[in-house]
This record gives sequence, C-alpha cells and structure tokens, in this order.
Amino acid sequence: MKTISIINLKGGVAKTITAINMAHILATVYSQRVLLIDNDKQGNTSKFFDLHSYDKPTIADLLVERDFDTHRAINPTLYSNLSVISANMNLLNANLKIILDVTRQQQTILKKALQQIESEYDYCIIDNAPDINISVINSLVAADEVIVPIKIDQFSFDGLDQLTEQFKDIREFNPSLNFKGCLITQYAKNKVNMQGSDYLNDGQKYPIFKTRINRTVKIDESTFAGEPIIKHARRCRAAKDYLDFVKEYLEK
Ligand SMILES: Nc1ncnc2c1ncn2[C@@H]1O[C@H](COP(=O)(O)OP(=O)(O)OP(=O)(O)O)[C@@H](O)[C@H]1O
Ligand SMILES: [Mg+2]
Repeated sequence: MKTISIINLKGGVAKTITAINMAHILATVYSQRVLLIDNDKQGNTSKFFDLHSYDKPTIADLLVERDFDTHRAINPTLYSNLSVISANMNLLNANLKIILDVTRQQQTILKKALQQIESEYDYCIIDNAPDINISVINSLVAADEVIVPIKIDQFSFDGLDQLTEQFKDIREFNPSLNFKGCLITQYAKNKVNMQGSDYLNDGQKYPIFKTRINRTVKIDESTFAGEPIIKHARRCRAAKDYLDFVKEYLEK
C-alpha cells in the first residue's frame, strides 16, 4: 500500500477536492483498491460521501483508542474499490488527548493503524486539515509521499517554506518521506496565475506537477451533487485535468 498525504497549511487550496478526485480516479479508472482518510475535523470529505456521522467510529477513535481494529472505522462508498475513514468534530478532542497521553508514542499511531490493513489496499490517500496538529503530523509520519495543492494568489507561497521545514522534521520519524510535488489548482489564465506558475516552474525550489487544474464552476457544483468530477461532468476541463494529473502522478 502506498500512502499519500495531501497537505497545505493554507485553507481553501483544494486539498479535499484533490484527495477525493485522485482517490476516485485511482479506484474507478485504474481499478486500484483505495482507502481515503478524512483527517480534518471539518469533515468535508466525509460529507461529500454522505458518511458524516457521530454514530460510527471515525479517525478520532482510531487515534485515541488503544489496540483499535482499523477495519472498524472503514466505510464502503457507492464506488467499487473506494472506502473511506470519516472524521467529525471529535477529532478536535482527539488531538488534545493524544498530546496529553505521554505513555504512547504520539507521532506513529496512524502509521501503526495502517500497518494492519497494508495488504488490503493499493493506495491510502489522506485529506488533511489546513493546520499542523498532531493528527496531521501522524499523517506525515504514516505517508510515503506528500502532494501539496496550491492556489495561486498573493499569499500562495507563504507557508510553503514552513511546510518544507516541517517535512525535514518529520524525516526524523519517517526518513523516506518523498515530497512528490506541488499541484496548481483553481488555475485561470490571468497574469497572476501565469507569474505564479512560472515562479514555481523556474525556481526549481519545489517539485511540481506539469498538469494544472483549471478553475471551473463544475467543481463547486460537484460538491453539491456529492459526485466526483469525472462522474459529475466528464467533459469539463477540471475532469480532464484530474485525469491527466493522476496519469502524470502514476508515471512520475
Ligand atoms: N478547480 C476548481 N475550480 C473551481 N473551484 C474549485 C476548484 N477546486 C476547488 N474549488 C473550490 O474551492 C473551494 C475549496 O476547495 P477544498 O474544500 O477542496 O479546499 P481545501 O484545501 O480542502 O480547504 P480546507 O483547507 O478548508 O480544508 C471549494 O469551494 C471548492 O469547490
Ligand atoms: Mg479540506
């Protein structure tokens, strides 16, 4: 199983949209067995798949309960090969509990939980909160690779240096963590987007995917429909872009 953490300290850069659509494309177009983890108390990924609930185990239970059977938190979706571990506001408290429990190694809980199901999935994709709390640190320690979605605006490069510093710290626990690339999302052909994308491409400071995800209202629509973009509007630009991105990812 390959574990990919989708992360950016900034909010609203399309981490959730990227995690959902990458997971759905790997599962349905490439027939890979995919586990998608919602690691954000906002629970956007869980809501998208109609799995937001306080009645069944979530990522919070998995992180807090000792000897938790990971299978208990896994939910099937409408899509074959695609399962989800959901999140809700309990993750807020869970973060606190993990920090307060000094009798366990706090950073490796998720990594150990995923070892239980390693042979059952080809990919595990983790959608993170725009934050660097202990559950996000757990996701970086558990990950083989990180992908950083970026929306280009005046502030888009703030936090990227901090994030890469964080990756360095994480390598103490996870020496082989691979910064796979930045993915430009919500791209529009205007001056600021072109300048920003040139900066990223030329700077060679950060790895970057060639594919950019164009901005289209169909993405917003797809969140209301609760349908991944290639199902909701197969012919729109962003559907093609996400297909191209996954193809580039698999070849990279
Ligand atoms: N390619 C796109 N075109 C147009 N809108 C988009 C695109 N990608 C994402 N969006 C919209 O941008 C908003 C933020 O997306 P998303 O929720 O995936 O970001 P996020 O990084 O997960 O945010 P948060 O940090 O709050 O978790 C959503 O309203 C989404 O519909
Ligand atoms: Mg999100």
